[in-house]
Amino acid sequence: MAKTLNVSILGYGMMGTVRAVAYEAVSRYYTNCPIKPVLYQAFTLPVEAEAAKESGWDAKSDLDAVITDPGCDYVDVCLPNAMHYDAVMKALAAGKHVFCEKPLSVTVDEAREMMTAAEAKPELLNAVNFIYRRCPSNVYARQLVKENKFGKLLEARSFYNQSWGGPDTPYSWRFGKAGGTLGDLGSHALDMLYYVTGMRPIELCAMQHTHIKERRDPKTVGSDLAARMNRGADGPQGEMVKVETDDATRIMYTLPGGAIGSLECTRNAWGTENTHGYELYFENGAIAWNYDDVNYLKIYDASKPERGWSRVLSNRGGFAYPSFADGHMYGYRDFTVNACYENMLKIAGADEVAPIATFRDAYNVECTIEAVRSSWENRCWVKLADFT
Ligand SMILES: NC(=O)c1ccc[n+]([C@@H]2O[C@H](COP(=O)([O-])OP(=O)(O)OC[C@H]3O[C@@H](n4cnc5c(N)ncnc54)[C@H](O)[C@@H]3O)[C@@H](O)[C@H]2O)c1
Repeated sequence: MAKTLNVSILGYGMMGTVRAVAYEAVSRYYTNCPIKPVLYQAFTLPVEAEAAKESGWDAKSDLDAVITDPGCDYVDVCLPNAMHYDAVMKALAAGKHVFCEKPLSVTVDEAREMMTAAEAKPELLNAVNFIYRRCPSNVYARQLVKENKFGKLLEARSFYNQSWGGPDTPYSWRFGKAGGTLGDLGSHALDMLYYVTGMRPIELCAMQHTHIKERRDPKTVGSDLAARMNRGADGPQGEMVKVETDDATRIMYTLPGGAIGSLECTRNAWGTENTHGYELYFENGAIAWNYDDVNYLKIYDASKPERGWSRVLSNRGGFAYPSFADGHMYGYRDFTVNACYENMLKIAGADEVAPIATFRDAYNVECTIEAVRSSWENRCWVKLADFT
């Protein structure tokens, strides 16, 4: 029988609730999973506790007590970005496995400390939820690049665009210093570039922009789903609050081996809801993925006489992660189950299906984020080596 592992989730927002569903599904979905995660406790804000308890959570509102509870083996940090550092450091000190939401931290210095503390305890999991690694299309793209299917990479284009950041959207932690679009969306795109190509920018030039300079404080937190999603369902309330971060970022960069690339992220692109993707152009072909068509990878093989893109279904034949049947489409919840499954494999010492994003990976993303900010502040190209 599989060993069990007690999981405590910190945060009852969008991610905390998605994760609770995922842990319960792991051992039902993956009957070969060597460890069965069991929901143990959860931290919620007091205003959320009642709803959480009704949906079956053992909800507590003392964050430190939940983290250090002797019965807890594994802490899953689904808190706002500015709270990751404290929660992670306390969890590691208490000897817990840690799965943390992205971005790992708010500053590079924090990320470095978190990575150092985690790597000093190699017996504990340190993983970050760069969730799109768990989508079979991206596992497939990574495999094609590793096999050098199309030769040398020449150009890369990444994007992560959403549309919810209009002027009617109220203030939330996502518009504070710790919550900008670059860390929120750009971090995913940077990690995905590395995951698929194995490369990180070596030099970059960036611009950041804030379209909406102040927003209304909705004076609600946590318990209302629409408010949590920043949709402003209750209409304007409260004071105007200054926005302290970017609505949009653009980056141009160079990669090892001579390729060039660009990355864009924004919350102000109407018509995009969660349009994350990349286009990779090689000497002899191209690969493209877009979350809007999440189960397919587009492949262009320039050696074939008939020119054109192939749209290849990636959840076929149980590729990467088992599917119920070919073409029964995967979505975000499935990727989350895959992520929790991978964490159990790693803790059990079994091979991962595709590499987990470690704190070191997330630290490297933070270094790039810091370089982007510096480039824009100083209006110049910067070398990544100066930020590690
Ligand atoms: N990997 C992904 O695809 C993905 C997607 C969305 C969010 N995220 C990340 O997940 C984390 C949480 O995001 P979310 O969308 O769930 O946020 P959210 O605002 O919906 O929920 C955050 C939760 O944290 C707790 N919280 C909020 N403010 C707090 C405070 N001041 N003190 C104590 N607890 C507080 C509450 O339980 C709240 O419900 C963030 O780091 C975010 O970047 C990741």
